[in-house]
Amino acid sequence: MKLLTIIGARPQIIKAAAFSRAVITWNNEENREFIEEIILHTGQHYDDNMSAVFFNELGIPNPDINLHVGSGSHGLQTAKMIEGIENVLIKAKIDGSAFDGVVLYGDTNSTLAGAIAASKIHVPVFHIEAGLRSWNMAMPEEINRIVCDQLSSILFTPTTKGMENLIHAGFCKDSEKVHFANGKKQYVVQSGDVMYDNAMYFVSMAEEKSDIIEQLGLMPKHFVLVTIHRPANTDSAENLTSIFNALLDIAEGKANGEQTKIVLPLHPRTRKLLPEKLSSKLMQRLNSCKNLLLIEPVSFFEIIRLEKHAQMVMTDSGGVQKEAFFFETPSVIFRPETEWVEIVETGAGILTNADYNRIITAYQTLYNKPIHFPPLYGDTHAAEKILKHIVNYCSSK
Ligand code: UD1
Ligand code: UDP
Repeated sequence: MKLLTIIGARPQIIKAAAFSRAVITWNNEENREFIEEIILHTGQHYDDNMSAVFFNELGIPNPDINLHVGSGSHGLQTAKMIEGIENVLIKAKIDGSAFDGVVLYGDTNSTLAGAIAASKIHVPVFHIEAGLRSWNMAMPEEINRIVCDQLSSILFTPTTKGMENLIHAGFCKDSEKVHFANGKKQYVVQSGDVMYDNAMYFVSMAEEKSDIIEQLGLMPKHFVLVTIHRPANTDSAENLTSIFNALLDIAEGKANGEQTKIVLPLHPRTRKLLPEKLSSKLMQRLNSCKNLLLIEPVSFFEIIRLEKHAQMVMTDSGGVQKEAFFFETPSVIFRPETEWVEIVETGAGILTNADYNRIITAYQTLYNKPIHFPPLYGDTHAAEKILKHIVNYCSSK
């Protein structure tokens, strides 16, 4: 059996670690059909700290193919990826070693490109993290995930909410309506979340190997971890100004009378846009605030240690809000809505968008509030479950 795993952006590289681990375990067991996993990196993320750092740390096999598409407008970037992925799939067919399917993660342009390239030439698409919806069509990710779900042969949804969304949208467990060129039907599986698999698998290694908290001079449960990278925030002077005014006031003790260290590993998109979108006065305040540490993106071991030991997380990232929940850390979410609604429903996360007052109030509310974190993301074996379904699908007539 031969599978093409397509990755490109940071969170996909991390998610792929869980699947590759499952493939390696599968291949090590006796009497099992060997699975050849070929990893294709589109090159959407390319800085070492957005890509290379994760391969070694998480034990992911190095990509067999890198398309090096780099950054660009949505159309240009996605088109280059589609062309590159299609070439790989067609060449394999011509060489007599066709792929049995492509494995896609999440909702980035790399996901979209993989779904379009593969489905058009009748290679089955397996979508990990299917069914999530923000219902906000201004998000590029919402467009990508809707298209990818439609084109997928198996939709692996991490949560009950994801399953509900898919059933609502006309997908169901054994759809009789949709069938593919290979004569097989589309179906949906609630698999659990591969990010939960990873967080639980790597946390003790991270505790042992990373000293980021000590290096940065932070005290466990006395600092706030922040990440920002959504275009709705980074590309808007108003939103970015409002978020940074709130962060600076929290850091300087104006929110609740106590100064707080804030650590913010800056996504390259945000690093580029900060000086353009913030006034020089606010940039000056930011650069001189000793409690607000702007640092480069950190490794997975480093971020999960920060998430686990933070008093609170503030973020517009899907992955970071979820990992905060896994580690029972409350979160302030700089978005108007979230796909991970259960985090908000349990009270562990508060949606604030980029609104100054809502951010300050959410910080005050979550400070020392007792919160219950029920298990909502599976049993840490999502990737194995996903692999078994893929094997059954590929070996069935
Ligand atoms: C992408 C995904 C988003 C995901 C995020 C994870 C899309 C449409 N967006 O957003 O869903 O949440 O990745 O981080 O697919 N850049 C660098 N170095 C890099 C990568 C990017 O400098 O290694 C800079 C470039 O200026 C680039 C900008 O960041 O133009 C944005 O990168 P891009 O991959 O287009 O989108 P992200 O904002 O990273
Ligand atoms: N992450 C990381 N280093 C960082 C910031 C994030 O390793 O400096 C990880 C984080 O733990 C999570 C993933 O990257 O697993 C989330 O990626 P990101 O926030 O870029 O994208 P999103 O999840 O919003 O798509």
